[in-house]
Amino acid sequence: MDGPDTTGPSTTGPTGTGPKTAGPMTTVLVLNGPNLQMLGARQPEIYGSATLADIAAACRDLGAQLGLAVDLRQTDDEGELIGWVHEAFERQLPVVINPAAFTHYSYALRDALAMLTSPVIEVHLSNPATRESFRHTSVVSGVATGTIAGFGPQSYELALRAVARQLNGGAPGAPGARSAPSASQAARAAERS
Ligand code: DQA
Repeated sequence: MDGPDTTGPSTTGPTGTGPKTAGPMTTVLVLNGPNLQMLGARQPEIYGSATLADIAAACRDLGAQLGLAVDLRQTDDEGELIGWVHEAFERQLPVVINPAAFTHYSYALRDALAMLTSPVIEVHLSNPATRESFRHTSVVSGVATGTIAGFGPQSYELALRAVARQLNGGAPGAPGARSAPSASQAARAAERS
């Protein structure tokens, strides 16, 4: 579906109608893995009737209220998804990610996400814990700030709220905050800031 918006800077200036926050908007990458462009048609009894375009519109609306510029992308390609995580690393952007089936087996995606020092929220429309046993394992959760699953499209909205909260003073060890960064992550973050 949506490809990367490579034209924009990491932050954009406030608009007259948008953010309720005073400062510039922070870009958040909302990344989606395989088959999620089929939402609406794909197993609606599990994933609901909203399309990815519907979710993107809702995310952009909420993002504007939260002071977040939402850049939503989808790919079926593991390498492309990892490339977008590298971009988040370079630009120090927060990430909301529904890795879809990659959740359950992509160590390469996990390794890419482990580099990030910005908030990383894993989202799922369904609750994988209530489904087939192969979905009970997430190789991504261990490197995410937190995981939100089972709320349909609302999972994305909750994730954006979590990002906004994290950016506004979420501290290591605080409720909902990312677990304390490793020594090497903290050192890299310090070097890059
Ligand atoms: C999903 C759950 C995954 O198990 C599945 O492979 C998906 C979607 C979800 O959003 O519920 O593609 O990530």
